[in-house]
Amino acid sequence: MDIVIRTTAGQAERLTAALVADYLRAHPRAVLGCATGRTFEPVYAMLAAMHAEGGLNFRGVTTFNLDEYVGLDQADRRSFRAYMVEHLFSKVDIAAENAHLPDASAPDLAAECRAYEQAIQDAGGIGLQLLGIGLTGHIGFNEPGSALQSRTRTKALSELTRRQNAESFGGVENVPLRAITMGIGTILDARTCLLLATGEAKAQVVADALEGPVSASVPASALQFHPDCAVVLDEAAASRLKNTSYYVSTYEREPEWAPYRERGL
Ligand code: GLP
Repeated sequence: MDIVIRTTAGQAERLTAALVADYLRAHPRAVLGCATGRTFEPVYAMLAAMHAEGGLNFRGVTTFNLDEYVGLDQADRRSFRAYMVEHLFSKVDIAAENAHLPDASAPDLAAECRAYEQAIQDAGGIGLQLLGIGLTGHIGFNEPGSALQSRTRTKALSELTRRQNAESFGGVENVPLRAITMGIGTILDARTCLLLATGEAKAQVVADALEGPVSASVPASALQFHPDCAVVLDEAAASRLKNTSYYVSTYEREPEWAPYRERGL
C-alpha cells in the first residue's frame, strides 16, 4: 500500500484527480470503478474541468459504480446514478451504455447482482477502482461483518451509515435500509485501487483500516491484501496514523511520485 499525505483536502483531491486523469490518458479504453459520496465530488469536478479544457476524454471509458440504494428508481434524484449524472456523466463524453450502476430497482436483485459481476468480467475487469471510506469502515456499502471475499450482493445498511447519508434524503428515516454493493472480493479484483479520505471525521477509521489488523469489522482493512493500492489523505484524515513520517517521505522521495511533485501536486 502506498500511503500519501497532502496538507489540505484540496491538495489531496487535486492529486487524486491527476492520478485518475493520467490513468485514463494512458488507458483510453479504461474500465474505471467509481465511488460516490461527498469526498469525490471535487475530484469529479476537476475531471469534468479537464474534459472541458480539452485535456481529457471519456469516449472509450467504461465505468462501474460500487453501489446503489435498493428500491430507488434509477431516475430518482437521490440515487447514486443521479449523483453520477450530476457530477460526472453529464459533464464528460462517456457513452451512456458504458456507464454502469447496479439496477437496485430490478425485480430479481440476486439476478441483478450476478449480472453486474458478469458485466464487469465481460468488460475485462476493473482497471482502476476509486474508493472512499465510510465512518463504519465500509468500502462500497460493505458494512462491518462483510465477508472479505464477498461478491456483489444486497447488504443491510448500518444506522451510522444511514445517518451519514441522511442529508440527501431529508432525514434518516427516509434513507433506504439496503443497498446493492460490489463485494470486498469484487473490489480486491481491481488491478489498481485508489482510496481518498479527507477530514478529521475519517481519522480514526483511516487509522483502523490502514494500520489496524485486517478484519471484517473494518472492511476497508482488506485493502492491506491488495498488491497495488494507493491511499491519498489530507493531514486531518491522517492525524491518527502512527507511521506518518514514513508516509510523508514516500511522497517526498520515491521516484514514482516525482512526476506529481514536479507538477506541484
Ligand atoms: C457512501 C458510499 C461509499 C463512500 C462512503 C463515504 O455512502 N457508499 O462509496 O465512499 O459512503 O462517503 P463520503 O465521501 O460522503 O464520506
